[in-house]
Amino acid sequence: MAKGRAGNAFNDGKAWSGRFRESTHRLVEAFTGSVAVDRRLYAQDIQGSIAHCKTLEKARVLRSAETRTIIRALEAVKIELDRGRFKFARQDEDIHMAIERRLTELIGPLGGKLHTGRSRNDQVTLDVRLYLRHQLEEFVKQIQEYQRVLVAKAKAHRTVAMPGYTHFQRAQPVLFAHHLLAYVDMLERDKGRIQDAHKRLNVMPLGSGALAGTNYPVDRRYTAELLGFPDVTTNSLDAVSDRDFMIEIAAALSITMMHLSRLSEELIVWSSQEFHFVDLPDGFCTGSSMMPQKKNPDVPELIRGRTGRVYGQLINLLITMKALPLSYNRDLQEDKPALFDALDTVKASLQVLTELMRRLKVNRESLKQAVQGGGLLATELADYLVDKGMPFREAHGVTGRVVRSALERGRDLTSLSLQELREFSDRFDKGVFARLTVEAAIDRKSQIGGTARGQVELRIKQLERRLS
Ligand code: ARG
Repeated sequence: MAKGRAGNAFNDGKAWSGRFRESTHRLVEAFTGSVAVDRRLYAQDIQGSIAHCKTLEKARVLRSAETRTIIRALEAVKIELDRGRFKFARQDEDIHMAIERRLTELIGPLGGKLHTGRSRNDQVTLDVRLYLRHQLEEFVKQIQEYQRVLVAKAKAHRTVAMPGYTHFQRAQPVLFAHHLLAYVDMLERDKGRIQDAHKRLNVMPLGSGALAGTNYPVDRRYTAELLGFPDVTTNSLDAVSDRDFMIEIAAALSITMMHLSRLSEELIVWSSQEFHFVDLPDGFCTGSSMMPQKKNPDVPELIRGRTGRVYGQLINLLITMKALPLSYNRDLQEDKPALFDALDTVKASLQVLTELMRRLKVNRESLKQAVQGGGLLATELADYLVDKGMPFREAHGVTGRVVRSALERGRDLTSLSLQELREFSDRFDKGVFARLTVEAAIDRKSQIGGTARGQVELRIKQLERRLS
């Protein structure tokens, strides 16, 4: 039985092959393997192994010389992986086993000591936590850059008015900048959710073993310290089977993607010939293979389309976890494709939308035309009557009749004479005309959060400071 380090002739030196009589069927190898997905965790896997190794040394499970040899070899393996020179073998079920196999090739049986007191179950959740910590930091930076682009665009057009909509009907004039800054506020909350999820994932699970804990006198706080975790997990069963942090992140990603999709939808509408509020940069559109005049908003369309995919991955994770008994079950391997796909999709969407928005051309002429006509100012007329002492409900009724009559006569609200207005109420006087302008309507919304130019400029300044 001296065949291979696992002592089994069938299983090509698989770490767990000892108790098997038959080698793994090719179909099963292909079916159960996850290395194509989890190989992206290699750097974190090695980082975790080095910390584990030092912990074993501190616990006097490994001698210092052994520790040094293992760490040096792990670093060599990392370089192979960094440079794309690492050769994966067919029997490498996952990244953890691939790295351990290579380690043992390099330093012989000593490599087999690395996994002392550790299971892939606590190892894999450590790796993902380390990976996410880094990814989330990058992601927050990416959101921040997108926000900066939106704020800069808002600033460049800070006096441009546009129709604000409810029910997709023109409602009241707002500043185009105010509209863009609405998205910046959404993204502020997105960052908050990510930072909040980060706190709960930032806990060190190693030392939980397969499920029950470890027999070795390891100092788990020391491992945590080496890896920069402020805390350690407090229940081994939970530690190896908890995927809450992934669900939280997938939920946060879904909400961010929803925000990206909402602006995308507006870009699609605004860039249509019917609106023509904006021009998308040519480099971010494609043409039609049949209709020569077409310039299609594919990027926002795909962001809109892929939003469903990100939600799907959240549901995927939730369903994987539903009713899953403690503790580790192989179902949990399905967490990573879902999580990584959600993360990759949102990051790619955010990146391309940032660059598109940076280059977006705002069509001031169309926006100017769109706020003309007076319809958007009906509420101002009602509020004017309120200022003159009329109860709002009554003022609403009077203004409604003015609007209807203007519509019937094909007239613009702002073109009515004082005499015509006074047919509806004798409270109208010549002061009304100063109120019936887009600028006045906008600037009167001067409370915190309103669209008045002063407020929007203030908010731009606050955000610039916050995002610098
Ligand atoms: N590839 C596995 C995963 O992603 C690692 C843990 C495997 N554990 C096990 N007991 N087979 O979940």
